[in-house]
Amino acid sequence: MNTTTTQPGWAHHARDLAALLRDRGDLVSPEWVDAFAAVPRHVFVPTVFEQDAGGVWREWAAADDWERVYSTRTLVTALGDGGGYPEPVSSSTNPELMARMLETLDVRDGHRVLEIGTGTGYNAALMSHRLGDRNVYSVDVDDRLVELARDRLAEAGYTPTVVAVDGEDGLSEHGPYDRIIATCAVPSVPRAWADQLAPGGEVLVDLKLATSAGNLVHLHRTADGGLEGRFLPRMATFMLMRHLHATAAPQAAAAVVGARRERTTIAPAMPWQTEPVVWFLAQLHGLPEGVRHGAILDPGTRQPVAATLSAPDGSRARIDLANNTVTETGGTALWEPVEAAYARWVDAGRPGWDRLGVTVASDGVNRVWLDDPAIGHAWPWSRSGRH
Ligand SMILES: C[S@@+](CC[C@H](N)C(=O)[O-])C[C@H]1O[C@@H](n2cnc3c(N)ncnc32)[C@H](O)[C@@H]1O
Repeated sequence: MNTTTTQPGWAHHARDLAALLRDRGDLVSPEWVDAFAAVPRHVFVPTVFEQDAGGVWREWAAADDWERVYSTRTLVTALGDGGGYPEPVSSSTNPELMARMLETLDVRDGHRVLEIGTGTGYNAALMSHRLGDRNVYSVDVDDRLVELARDRLAEAGYTPTVVAVDGEDGLSEHGPYDRIIATCAVPSVPRAWADQLAPGGEVLVDLKLATSAGNLVHLHRTADGGLEGRFLPRMATFMLMRHLHATAAPQAAAAVVGARRERTTIAPAMPWQTEPVVWFLAQLHGLPEGVRHGAILDPGTRQPVAATLSAPDGSRARIDLANNTVTETGGTALWEPVEAAYARWVDAGRPGWDRLGVTVASDGVNRVWLDDPAIGHAWPWSRSGRH
């Protein structure tokens, strides 16, 4: 280890972080407590970007604030171009969430794990500490990040296999894996992951059918080579998986056509914020792909006065928060799927995430189900990935 890792001071911060995660119940196994206490997070996040009150991204050095580095914060470490504005493209995930995910993954000594989304390398270091370098594989689509992560892992004393590839394809040459953990969100679970799992294998991934529409799901390999499992009870959100040769960004919405329709609604106006399960189910009740949600702010208070939905075909819905009036224009009735999902959700007793599960069948027919995959209500679904 070089001088960075041996600087006095970080070790007690890391121990405090591990103790905090244990005391809060995020960590329960001594092996993971040891890993969080032993891995120097500051090595993986030498520079962090944070937005100030005005929305401007400012940079700070980990060496200046170890308390912040060894805290339960997500630390943004790389910015990209978000259509003319800087946008986070990599980060070190909040350790509290990482801890819960690693515990959920239920690894055993000797397990081989594939991580999708190396990012800083911090999580790969935690897993290398727990399972040994030779059992840890990690991939990131960004080769510059992979190079940095490899160097920083070595600096901290870890040498897992880190490869620059698109994680949608997994990493077949080193499979099969006992566990696959993804730290970027996917619109559908890639077939390659199921194929690269060993019997009894598990996948933990943030499944987001659209922005804010989904959660972490813990899937087990089924006897026929598919995947099945439940969502975790607590909501989590990762940055969406990106692809180097992605198709062009969606075009600006087409001009609005069709009559203006107005009525009132009893569905929550901003389900993506207040009832994320309803927003998720709305995707399965016929909301078209590519619908974006937004808000109109009062210019004085900067508080939302209306929620908005906009579809690529130019259709729009606006829901005024003061009187629950829905105003729709365009050829597609965007609010109807939300209302249908809300009615179904109320009818089912307002289920939380833990009553919902997913089956990714080997024949490609995917289903979201309520309570029980065999007998519960099920919604078929499909969302395109890269392919
Ligand atoms: C939240 S960060 C990962 C955090 C990381 N596990 C850590 O400990 O620092 C998400 C990462 O997913 C990566 N990513 C996005 N799309 C990907 C893809 N198609 N394949 C692999 N990695 C991808 C991003 O480049 C980014 O580094």
